[in-house]
Amino acid sequence: MQKQKDNYFVVTAPGFENICAGELVALGIKPTDTTRGGIEFEGGLKELYSANLWLRSGARILVRLGNVAARDFPTLFQRLSKLPWGRFIKAGTVCEIKATSRASRLIHTGRIAEVCQAAISKSLGDQKGEQGAVQKIFLRMDDNRCQVSIDSSGEHLHRRGYRQAKVAAPLRETLAAGCLLACDYDGSAPLLDVMTGSGTFAIEAALIALHRAPGKERTFAFMDWPKYRPGLWRQLLIEAQRGEKSTLSAPILAVDNNPKAIAAAQKNLERLGLADLIQLSCGDMQQLQPQFPDGLMICNPPYGERLGKNASLKSLYHDLGRVYGTTFPAWRGAVICPESELIKSAAIPFSPLLRFTNGGIQVALLEKS
Ligand SMILES: C[S@@+](CC[C@H](N)C(=O)[O-])C[C@H]1O[C@@H](n2cnc3c(N)ncnc32)[C@H](O)[C@@H]1O
Repeated sequence: MQKQKDNYFVVTAPGFENICAGELVALGIKPTDTTRGGIEFEGGLKELYSANLWLRSGARILVRLGNVAARDFPTLFQRLSKLPWGRFIKAGTVCEIKATSRASRLIHTGRIAEVCQAAISKSLGDQKGEQGAVQKIFLRMDDNRCQVSIDSSGEHLHRRGYRQAKVAAPLRETLAAGCLLACDYDGSAPLLDVMTGSGTFAIEAALIALHRAPGKERTFAFMDWPKYRPGLWRQLLIEAQRGEKSTLSAPILAVDNNPKAIAAAQKNLERLGLADLIQLSCGDMQQLQPQFPDGLMICNPPYGERLGKNASLKSLYHDLGRVYGTTFPAWRGAVICPESELIKSAAIPFSPLLRFTNGGIQVALLEKS
């Protein structure tokens, strides 16, 4: 019997599409298309589970359920009712339906979502179900066609489950991992985050270096689907566990001058059992001296917009330039910040590797030239 294949879509933060496509390829999954904000691929449940378990830079993974033409609500209802909802949703599951519309006759997105809910109830029956997780459904009306997607991830994939202790302006785990991958970080050279905050870069670097699957501690929406295969999931976890390393090939060091940030990072490291592997220290980056001849320095300094305007920011960026350029001249250096006047204070040349938004602010991953 031929295995059923579906079309999937990995949602990424715009700017990270190629990084995430590279991750899929490394998993043995061939992307079929890359568009702004995501990548399409085809596969079965194994590919879907693997992508949820392993993708570091992806935000969520959708299943394309169908694409129906409709210029009026009765037609929309009738065609949506015929989609195979029962493959992914148990009767009585609470659905959160989000609709968008452009260039279409049906523009009332609230009504589109209501019609979809009615179509699901007609297809699956109206019975009250067990109180499980909410199933997200995305409807995109475009040019009088409605594309229907079912979310397989549940919570956003940046929620790995380890970051409970936070600091101001933390970086999303998916963005931190994507930036490390964009710098070709693979754990073979030392890594130093000079402004670690809650430790996101250091932790994501350790997960990469140890070949640890970022999704292994969490649950996913597909686990509530009628055809969930726990045996397949267990098998993927066992394989992931087998490939994991217990020690680092090269050190990971993380520094911050705020004791509260160090305490938060320490808690997050402990939660993952990484506290003995990562060298965390409280101090000013200016006091740092290279303990190794080369490696990758990376950091996400304050920008002002999110942490409050501060005249001393210019001098912070100036100091950063000195640490990157003078103290660690042989190290590769990367920094995430807006391409604004501030980074010019560093007085060393940088070139952009990626452009994306962080907390609503347009930033770039800049690499020391
Ligand atoms: C935007 S936060 C970093 C957030 C971090 N990437 C995370 O995901 O939690 C900037 C951090 O830089 C630290 N910092 C600012 N000036 C510093 C300095 N001179 N030396 C070391 N750390 C500094 C702050 O304490 C703060 O934790």
